[in-house]
Amino acid sequence: METAVPVLRIEDLKVTFSHGQLKAFALRGINLSFKRDEIHGLVGESGSGKTVTSTCIMGLLPSPPARIESGRILYDGKDLLQLSEAEMRTYRGRKIAMIFQEPAKYLNPAFKIGEQIIEMVRLHLGMSRQAAEERAKELLHLVGLGKDGRVLDSFPHELSGGMKQRAMIAIAISCNPDFLIADEPTTALDVTLQLQILRLLKKLQSLQRMSVLFISHDLGIVYEIADAVSVIYAGKIVESAKKENLFKNSLHPYTKLLMLSSPNAKKRGKRLTTIPGQVLDATETPRGCSFAPRCPLARDRCYAEDPELTAYTEGHTVACHFAGETWKI
Ligand SMILES: Nc1ncnc2c1ncn2[C@@H]1O[C@H](COP(=O)(O)OP(=O)(O)OP(=O)(O)O)[C@@H](O)[C@H]1O
Ligand SMILES: [Mg+2]
Repeated sequence: METAVPVLRIEDLKVTFSHGQLKAFALRGINLSFKRDEIHGLVGESGSGKTVTSTCIMGLLPSPPARIESGRILYDGKDLLQLSEAEMRTYRGRKIAMIFQEPAKYLNPAFKIGEQIIEMVRLHLGMSRQAAEERAKELLHLVGLGKDGRVLDSFPHELSGGMKQRAMIAIAISCNPDFLIADEPTTALDVTLQLQILRLLKKLQSLQRMSVLFISHDLGIVYEIADAVSVIYAGKIVESAKKENLFKNSLHPYTKLLMLSSPNAKKRGKRLTTIPGQVLDATETPRGCSFAPRCPLARDRCYAEDPELTAYTEGHTVACHFAGETWKI
């Protein structure tokens, strides 16, 4: 199949959270496009909107307090935001699946791992009990949890952190989803385990030809795993490109600063916390660019006019009036 058509596309997604009189803007117009058979990294500081974006795709946004103010999430010719909960349930897990930072929160402590996989595939794929058991064994083997069925018969608390993460991956991919979201799936693991899980994800992605949204704070990890990368700042995508372009030829001053603050991007473990200045207050709605107060290139125009995400070269989009300009450090 032609890869030019995105598997899933997010258009102008705006989300607010209301608490009493206070309204906070979590997503200020997200635009993202995911291709088949590609790992798309999403990087940004804490609070920038990565998890809210993924919960919107999964149809799991808690509303209230959240509210979708505008936007569309297009998948398979449909806007997921318009589906009923019952319709969404036929997609969630089957077509669109997710793995989380903390598997302990996701795995049901009362059921054995095998049962959780069996339930998933019986529900979505209508398999017989016996076929579902076979599938569960295969999946656990595929994610490196052995063939002997020991993990099949284990409760989540009987597994180590790395094994839980693998078990959750097995559940997530059990129905061959088209689209897999991995929200900081390795942050809670030590470096050796991180590497193993990344390799596993990459292997599964190419095996099942999924489109993967890989969320991380860590530029090094994204560099290692992603094919394309988008950078999110204060609820907006500021730059999006193929990985090589983004790392070699970043255009947005925020992306450039991220690279500078993490000089050896190939080195894992760097967190994005060293850029000076305050992140935009979530209750504010500036007229101009959200990044202007922290930006070394900011001029009058930046405070007056919000730059739109536009193509700079083919496949490389950026939201900056002065994209590509450099400054003296
Ligand atoms: N339940 C909630 N109630 C109020 N505000 C929320 C809620 N969940 C998220 N937010 C706000 O939405 C914004 C985006 O949060 P989100 O969790 O998506 O950030 P993130 O990029 O995933 O951060 P992190 O890297 O720390 O996981 C933040 O300003 C956050 O405070
Ligand atoms: Mg998050």
